[in-house]
Amino acid sequence: MKAAWKLIQTLARTLAPLPWIGLIPFLASGTSDPFRIAFGSCAHQAKQQPIWEAILQDKPDVFILLGDNIYGDTEDMDLLARKYLQFNAIPGFQKLRSTTRLIGTWDDHDYGMNDAGKEYPEKEASRRLMLSFFEEPEHSPRWSQDGGVYAAYQFQHKEKTIQVILLDTRWDRDPPLAVTREEYQNDRAPKKMGPYVPHPEAGPKMLGETQWQWLADQLQQPADLRILGSSIQVLTDYSGWECWANFPAEQKRLLDLLQTHQAEGVLLISGDTHWAEFSRIGRSPGYPLWELTSSGLTEEWAEVSPNRNRIGPYTAKANYGMLEIVWDTPIPYLTATIKNAQGQIQFQNTLLLQDLSYTTQIQP
Ligand SMILES: [Fe+2]
Repeated sequence: MKAAWKLIQTLARTLAPLPWIGLIPFLASGTSDPFRIAFGSCAHQAKQQPIWEAILQDKPDVFILLGDNIYGDTEDMDLLARKYLQFNAIPGFQKLRSTTRLIGTWDDHDYGMNDAGKEYPEKEASRRLMLSFFEEPEHSPRWSQDGGVYAAYQFQHKEKTIQVILLDTRWDRDPPLAVTREEYQNDRAPKKMGPYVPHPEAGPKMLGETQWQWLADQLQQPADLRILGSSIQVLTDYSGWECWANFPAEQKRLLDLLQTHQAEGVLLISGDTHWAEFSRIGRSPGYPLWELTSSGLTEEWAEVSPNRNRIGPYTAKANYGMLEIVWDTPIPYLTATIKNAQGQIQFQNTLLLQDLSYTTQIQP
């Protein structure tokens, strides 16, 4: 019997990177009733948003807006409010939010300004508009907590717990370092890279100390799978655009925090870029970390930046991400997929949950 299990596990691992992974439930002879978490970012409120019809067809249990949910780009709070109303009036989105649990965080454009951080003067007023848009409960700490709108959620499915952690990468973020306009034009643009350079020393912050402490606490909460959402990319090596790699000490602190607490079942998701891709880094000790970036719901990009940690293809056409988590097979797994505005699969990976663990847990 043990040999048979070994064979199934080996087959599952071999097949996992392939798109025809639908074979796994067959091999595992279980039922398939996944918990579906869809997510996306970068939705311009003044554009057509046909993608919601495709997302509705998928019937997600939860939808996560990961930032740049509108393009506010203003210090005029009346204007920001009108832009939220414009987004909220889009019929497809209305249908989604009336049928699906909607959660989210923000990125720079909905926070208030392109690439804005702690210096943005209207952040308190912007927070009130953002949380009103998400219909945040009256007594939620998000209305007044130090460090912004970060939040964590727990969803129960098949007696398992899925934790969703959403960071605020704006509220306390120090300014990034950038090359000159001339260097950007002569050196970066030809390489399809953005203008930012990594901070050479520790000190500049991505998250404030209160959020770091909160995150450490969240990583110690019991969960069978943790979806860690950051509005900007975490694992990309260095694109020159906004990403954690612009703050290497902060990026290391985040990865070290996952190690310190031996956080099990972590999958990263992100947005912001206007393209979609998988990134992955190996860790020793520890299991490989995967990140699925989906962007944008409306926004597209011509010049996709290099990313040495990219796994597989990318798409720069409108897209959304879909995570389907299956517990009730002998080998629980999740399928992470990028779909286009018509709901067609662009690329996907299937991850065995036992491979997102410091200690493989198989119940033969
Ligand atoms: Fe952004």
